[in-house]
Amino acid sequence: MQKKILVTGGSGYIGSHTTLALLEAGFDVVVLDNLCNSSIESLNRIENICGKKPDFIEGDVRDEQTLDKIFATNEIDSVLHFAGLKAVGESVNNPLTYYSNNVVGSLTLCKAMVRANVFKLVFSSSATVYGDPIEMPVREDFPTGTPTNPYGRSKLIAEEILQDLAKSDSRWSIALLRYFNPVGAHESGTMGEDPNGIPSNLVPYISQVAIEQLSKLSVYGRDYPTPDGTGVRDYIHVQDLAEGHLSALNAIDEKTGVNIWNLGTGVGYSVLEMIQAFEVACGRSIPYQVVDRRTGDIAECWAAPKKAAEELGWTAKRDLSDMMADTWRWQKRNPTGYKS
Ligand code: NAD
Ligand code: UFG
Repeated sequence: MQKKILVTGGSGYIGSHTTLALLEAGFDVVVLDNLCNSSIESLNRIENICGKKPDFIEGDVRDEQTLDKIFATNEIDSVLHFAGLKAVGESVNNPLTYYSNNVVGSLTLCKAMVRANVFKLVFSSSATVYGDPIEMPVREDFPTGTPTNPYGRSKLIAEEILQDLAKSDSRWSIALLRYFNPVGAHESGTMGEDPNGIPSNLVPYISQVAIEQLSKLSVYGRDYPTPDGTGVRDYIHVQDLAEGHLSALNAIDEKTGVNIWNLGTGVGYSVLEMIQAFEVACGRSIPYQVVDRRTGDIAECWAAPKKAAEELGWTAKRDLSDMMADTWRWQKRNPTGYKS
């Protein structure tokens, strides 16, 4: 029998690409999403690509009854937990909303999993939990830092709760996947990131400048201690990330307790390198101005991807030109995202 996976937040950016990868790999999928930051159209696009569609439940991960019903009516093997809010700036203004969705949401899900006797969980964490690491590349055994905003803190708190939970009951097998900077889109150009309002992340912003929906990029600081003075990050293609989840799912079948894996490429690129790479992909120039640093940003952050390679047999395969070409294909064909 095919294994059935519950994917919370499965119509969102990373969740939808992972749902597609799961269906393509032969899993059955139930998506639970309240659509607060996504469109159900992403699930139609999945069907167009692979001929299969996940079961979809519109609901909130904080709703116990909805969760109990899903577990009662489906034989769920494992849960991939993407549902949550992710806008750093918004989290500063609405901390309670962030703690509720990201922390209470994770707690409610775990409680329902216990009731249903399901103990395999893959959690979407973030490199933000490392704070401002003292050296590069960032390894999983580095201490977690002090997040500078409620979003980061909500991820760290959720991680710590999951650690305590696994210590209390050996039936749990939990993967904490610390993503670096997810970018890119499905190579078909039919699925991608569809941010609400003005994007706060670099690549969606550049992409909207390229399509002339925004006039110019602000580069946040050129006085960092990096080769060209701009911030350096480890950008990872969303399809590589999706494949990383499948590898983690396999791995937690064999392991118990908490396992932490970085999902990154191991290579850092500066903001100026990103602009240049996008210009090559789209054949247009990206107007930009250098402005002050953004509060809370760090100079550089890239992953040590060795542990994931050794333990999951997973490494990112797609390079920067793939990330940019795929982002541009998606943006060009869907100038208003899933709303078009
Ligand atoms: P996204 O906003 O596209 O997807 C999240 C999905 O969860 C959305 O479809 C949203 O509607 C849904 N959702 C939110 N709160 C919910 C709730 N209470 N109940 C049910 N559904 C809910 O974001 P994404 O980029 O796909 O991120 C997925 C996960 O990965 C998030 O947990 C995010 O914090 C984490 N993450 C993302 C990044 C990134 O840069 N994109 C980096 C590190 C970690
Ligand atoms: N940047 C700009 N201009 C912009 C946006 C970003 O110069 O308009 C710069 C930033 O200063 C930084 C780099 O581009 O140097 C990347 O910034 P992003 O906002 O795209 O990403 P961050 O590294 O700040 O944060 C992202 C997610 C977080 C997550 C973190 C680590 O937004 O949720 O990666 O995974 F925690």
